[in-house]
Amino acid sequence: MSNVTILGIESSCDDTSCAVIRDGVLLSNVIASQAVHEAYGGVVPELASRAHQQNIVPVVSEAIRRAGIHRSELTAVAFTRGPGLLGSLLVGTSFAKGLAISLGIPMIEVNHLQAHVLAHFIKQSPDDNAHPAFPFICLLVSGGNSQIIRVEAYDRMEVIGQTIDDAAGEAFDKCAKVMGLGYPGGPIVNRLANEGNPRAFTFSKPHVPGYDYSFSGLKTSFLYTLRDALKDDPDFVEKHKADLCASLQATVIDILMDKLRRAVADTGIREVAVAGGVSANSGLRDAFRDHAERLGWNIFLPPNAFTTDNAAMVAMTGYFKYADGLFCAMDAAPYARVTSTIC
Ligand code: KG4
Repeated sequence: MSNVTILGIESSCDDTSCAVIRDGVLLSNVIASQAVHEAYGGVVPELASRAHQQNIVPVVSEAIRRAGIHRSELTAVAFTRGPGLLGSLLVGTSFAKGLAISLGIPMIEVNHLQAHVLAHFIKQSPDDNAHPAFPFICLLVSGGNSQIIRVEAYDRMEVIGQTIDDAAGEAFDKCAKVMGLGYPGGPIVNRLANEGNPRAFTFSKPHVPGYDYSFSGLKTSFLYTLRDALKDDPDFVEKHKADLCASLQATVIDILMDKLRRAVADTGIREVAVAGGVSANSGLRDAFRDHAERLGWNIFLPPNAFTTDNAAMVAMTGYFKYADGLFCAMDAAPYARVTSTIC
């Protein structure tokens, strides 16, 4: 199989992205993020759909231009079918249909979570072979998900643990909002945490069975700490911002790594990857490196460009599915949610 050129489209939340991959090698990856949500402290679904409508044509054109190809060279169009915001997904899905019909090429539906995991297989150059071997364990941590996934093959993934309430990224974002730090809060907390003391404050950790996670208790504990302290000192947050962020980040990482360590020990699979927006967190990356050194894990940290939502991972998943002839029908409609299986 050669000269297989897949165009991927991602529009599940607030990033409009298009990428081109040829034979597994990335040719272009264009992402238009939506600043419009910052003023609201979170993604506003209707505004996201409108921004996707504005961005989709220029983003796709630019991805094809940067790839240095003509659209007639495309073999198939892959698109994120779900999970995500329905109005956002509809934009990418409809555009993919129009493009596939106009070019007379097949369409491949992609599960957004599966794509995050398969981001590890994107080749940045033809001789880039630094990807995990099957089976591996993947910690998928984003604004909407916190899962431990046992990956047996590109199309056989089992979610063995997941959050029962908030996601890790949500915990970062919500606590940042309480501190008035802006949106999305994760990267801002990460930056401030680098200057703070991770042991300055203690926040509660959950007691959830198995490999499941919970972050709502941490959020409440963080909120109560601030509420009590602000009674005595209205400038408390301003004075202790860095320490609050460092302690919050350290607690999130402890919670994540504790369950992951157990999953690795129980399964005996020491090939361990991390994916999703929160995998950009420098503290979490350091924790992975530390575990690799102490426990002999073979770790895989995605390049920053492939941590948050991007179409390169969608095109990569499309490439895997193309090899197996897994095309989708023209009446495929997006879905907002998935349950326990991700592919
Ligand atoms: O994967 P993603 O782009 O979107 C979802 O599918 O949810 O992840 C976005 C999440 C947000 O919650 C954001 O705050 C978080 O990833 N995030 C971070 C960092 N960069 C992004 N969280 C902690 N540290 C970071 N450096």
